[in-house]
Amino acid sequence: MPLAYFKNEFVALEQATISVATHALNYGTGCFEGIRAYYNEEQDKLYILKLREHYERFMRSCSVMRIDPGHSVEDMINQTVELLRRQNFHQDVYIRPLAFKADPVIKVTLEGIHDEFAVFALPMGDYLPTKGIHVMVSSWRRLEDNAIPSRAKITGSYVNTALAVTDAHLAGFDDAIFLTESGHVAEGSAANLFMVRNGTLVTPAVTDNILEGITRDIIMRLAQDAGIPVSTRPIDRTELYVSDELFLVGTGVQISPVTRIDHRNIGQGTVGPVTEGIQTRYNQAIRARLPEYGDWLTLVK
Ligand SMILES: Cc1ncc(COP(=O)(O)O)c(C=O)c1O
Repeated sequence: MPLAYFKNEFVALEQATISVATHALNYGTGCFEGIRAYYNEEQDKLYILKLREHYERFMRSCSVMRIDPGHSVEDMINQTVELLRRQNFHQDVYIRPLAFKADPVIKVTLEGIHDEFAVFALPMGDYLPTKGIHVMVSSWRRLEDNAIPSRAKITGSYVNTALAVTDAHLAGFDDAIFLTESGHVAEGSAANLFMVRNGTLVTPAVTDNILEGITRDIIMRLAQDAGIPVSTRPIDRTELYVSDELFLVGTGVQISPVTRIDHRNIGQGTVGPVTEGIQTRYNQAIRARLPEYGDWLTLVK
């Protein structure tokens, strides 16, 4: 039976319900995280990836939205581990913490409204194909920091993602790439982006209206450890077309190589060697097969 931690107790997920008058449902005034736990079959152990970093970002998002989740990072880490322990998962899991403006009030403000915290977890496999996707540059622009900050993981912001990704799917693509209002590349619909040009891994800066991704940090570390130079700089749309390799990264998508963009092949139209190398190391690290990255993982059981 799927469980949730809600209103300070563990309950059946189907009992963790809210009123239709809830502020966050009406106005998008919530913050959330997406965290993965990976099952290692040989060891029969489940590991949560970058758990602390996710809750630290959650706190930063909540601070932007003036939401008080009512728990410390430490508490939320413990509740999440306990939530997974109680469900005794033997497969990969996606964890969804959520803090939101909970009162049933018709008033658009962030002040004077009671906040709630909940977390639940469900089994999850791959979110996007990991062997090569075809993406489009979206006609929707990425949210601007001075409108709705992408830096914070706000529930209402994902309307932007839903608009772009739906158009991409209806047009036959696997995902969408957002540009900023100034015309530079921001990120995927729910993932950060890296391209390879002349042996250097390039990714947009945190000032390009991106979510400050935790997988993005992991990729930069893996690249550094493999001696691959990393550059953080603005990227033009057509640089993507002429890049040697391109891939999306995120907790949901993991590492998703892009082999075609706007009906053009990237490189040979196959997964390139830099992407493949990083993907291999990533897949080993997240399942506790590389001891040097053991501190990224929290053991559930
Ligand atoms: C808009 C957006 N950008 C980037 C990411 C990747 O962030 P992370 O690696 O922390 O999961 C996500 C999602 O998880 C996202 O929704």
